[in-house]
Amino acid sequence: MRVLLTAGPTYEPLDPVRFLGNRSTGKMGYALAEAFAAQGAQVVLISGPSTLPDPVDERIETVRVETAAEMFAAAAAAAETADIWVFAAAVADYRPARVAAEKIKKSGDTLTLELVKNVDIAATLGQRKRAEQFAVGFALETTNELAHARDKLHRKNFDLVVLNSLRDAGAGFGHDTNKVTVLDAAGQIVNFELQSKADVARGLVSLILARRAATH
Ligand code: CTP
Ligand code: CA
Repeated sequence: MRVLLTAGPTYEPLDPVRFLGNRSTGKMGYALAEAFAAQGAQVVLISGPSTLPDPVDERIETVRVETAAEMFAAAAAAAETADIWVFAAAVADYRPARVAAEKIKKSGDTLTLELVKNVDIAATLGQRKRAEQFAVGFALETTNELAHARDKLHRKNFDLVVLNSLRDAGAGFGHDTNKVTVLDAAGQIVNFELQSKADVARGLVSLILARRAATH
């Protein structure tokens, strides 16, 4: 079994010394890679800039990228031959319209940046998903969480969507624990307890493998 996993943030350069990024650490994605490998899967872990070391498990191939465009290219190359796709990365939705060749000098009292939309990796690959392939996405929401997560599941052709709620103390970016809810296309909901990201990862992997076996 082959798994494609995206993880971590993306950094979108502004000039040679600056970038736009986000607070994703990659912990959840790396934990998922290790949990899949522990089940015997061959994993391609496509990671944005994360301070975590490459997983040592020889079943995990770590590909380091920086921008959303680089992450898309690496993911598209691995998607065809992967049986399961998991999109755990916090991909920047926008990037600076222009990357300055030289460091931007301080000038006026305000500075306006023009941003352009990045490729949606999950949605673009979702259109190419074959019947035997299984896709899992994440959704980070602060309002109307279930409705937004369900919308993403349909829009991006996911089989399952993992909803991260930022409302719970100890869950989300940077924490070692996480609390998630999993939704499927049939409307079924599975609630996970607040637990370590390693335990959440093991629970998600067994749910993913069970659902894939049941539906494929
Ligand atoms: N995703 C992706 N490529 C993007 C943006 C998101 O692959 N350019 C993936 C994420 O890895 C995640 C899912 O899509 O699995 C949902 O990401 P999220 O940021 O919650 O959704 P968006 O569609 O970007 O919507 P918004 O940020 O407005 O809520
Ligand atoms: Ca987004």
